[in-house]
Amino acid sequence: MLFRPQKIVCIGAGYVGGPTMAVIADRCPDVQVTVLDLNAERIAAWNSDTLPVFEPGLSEVVSRTRGRNLYFRPQAEGLAALAEADIVFISVQTPTKTAGEGAGKASDLQYVEACARLIAEHARGHTIVVEKSTMPVRAAERIQQILSANQAGGTFAVLSNPEFLAEGTAIRDLQQPDRVLIGGEDPAAVVALKSIYASWVASEKILTTGLWSAELSKLAANAFLAQRVSSINSLSALCEQTGAEVSEVATVVGADSRIGPKFLQASVGFGGSCFQKDLLSLIYLCEHHALPEVAAYWQGVVDINEWQKRRFAEAVQQAAVNRRVAVLGLAFKKDTNDFRESAALTVCRALLHSGCEVVAYDPRVDGQRFAAELGNPAQFSLASSAAQALAGAGAVAVLTEWEEFRSIAWASVKLSPGATVCDGRNVVDRAAVQQAGFRLRVIGSAPD
Ligand code: UDX
Ligand code: ADP
Repeated sequence: MLFRPQKIVCIGAGYVGGPTMAVIADRCPDVQVTVLDLNAERIAAWNSDTLPVFEPGLSEVVSRTRGRNLYFRPQAEGLAALAEADIVFISVQTPTKTAGEGAGKASDLQYVEACARLIAEHARGHTIVVEKSTMPVRAAERIQQILSANQAGGTFAVLSNPEFLAEGTAIRDLQQPDRVLIGGEDPAAVVALKSIYASWVASEKILTTGLWSAELSKLAANAFLAQRVSSINSLSALCEQTGAEVSEVATVVGADSRIGPKFLQASVGFGGSCFQKDLLSLIYLCEHHALPEVAAYWQGVVDINEWQKRRFAEAVQQAAVNRRVAVLGLAFKKDTNDFRESAALTVCRALLHSGCEVVAYDPRVDGQRFAAELGNPAQFSLASSAAQALAGAGAVAVLTEWEEFRSIAWASVKLSPGATVCDGRNVVDRAAVQQAGFRLRVIGSAPD
């Protein structure tokens, strides 16, 4: 008879673990889902009305499920759930290593390894351990090693089930995924995990592969997406020189059904916790396996992105008619409160370094945390609205494509005379800026 898992635990209540488990609990009311985290403050937020992650639709899903079959617990209080779990997801961060072998490129697996040790110590009976975090290829081998070295009578099967959700559209991506990927060598474990997703995902969309293919596929998917952004961003610079318009070029190129229209939006540079980290992880793997040409190919995608952020920051500095720069948008994309690796971090650092005073506004990002990430510089301050940030500024840097930036009433904002609006997202109303008498620079368009 088909084994239907009844109890799921997820270690890590972050941007991936929280929304993913909320949707599983929503779509599988017969399954009890417990999410654990070492960070008790984060767990308290998940149990409050102010969730730690902003995602459209998330609070509705959480309010339907929390206390019914979805529970958020500090790790120390959730060990009994871990002992009883049929499936344990590992959904913790895998940042780029900052020290030791592979520093600056390889993914740091210390958090994953800590989870594997915790599972080995507390799991009882047979447990399916699922890599949800993005891992380097063959990370499952390391997890298996730890589980078998520490097992106290328990047995384990390890699967790779990378998450493809994008922040800002996480709930829709989880509810209607393009595909679900399950990699593994243990057919019974694969079938058991598949039965969870099959509760709401059509079976032809649930792809099964070997473990190593699953791990590499996730890195590859992010690398391909990032490559598209760097490709269009590289051309944005050429457009600015030649008078071509990057959005027109993107529309024409994307109309080819072999290429497709998505992910061709020129920008101040991609950000987020995944693209750069996963590219660097891929590059490290290539170097490790003595494939320098392949490593150099993907390194180009990272390099263009760094260059794009730098050259935008320089354009803003040069355009500023006084030292005050208004930064609109700190999140790495719209509809999220996440600013990890956001272009805003690089641009703000560069502006501050060159002696500018930065006044920033973002509708969702916790500005205090952003300031702390910058090291709380005296020249950085926060505004509570776009209009407040803009008052007296000698230049404006639009860094996130928030909808509200499309409808700024430029005629009534109090920018310094002669100020330039530098639009890194092609969102501002160009005619309104020009009619208000300000200069305009849009990424991928010839400067006016
Ligand atoms: C990405 C992948 O899309 C997702 O499948 C994976 O699970 C995690 O990594 P995410 O980083 O949340 O998701 O957001 P995404 O929408 O991919 O955007 C990444 C960055 O690229 C953002 O900074 C975004 O603004 C930028 N971007 C995206 C562009 O600059 N232009 C585009 O055309 C698309
Ligand atoms: P992601 O974007 O991959 O979800 P986040 O950083 O948002 O990454 O979330 C990862 C979560 O995992 C954090 O809340 C962190 O506290 C938690 N975490 C990391 N290591 C452990 C661990 N060993 N046990 C429990 N939780 C952990």
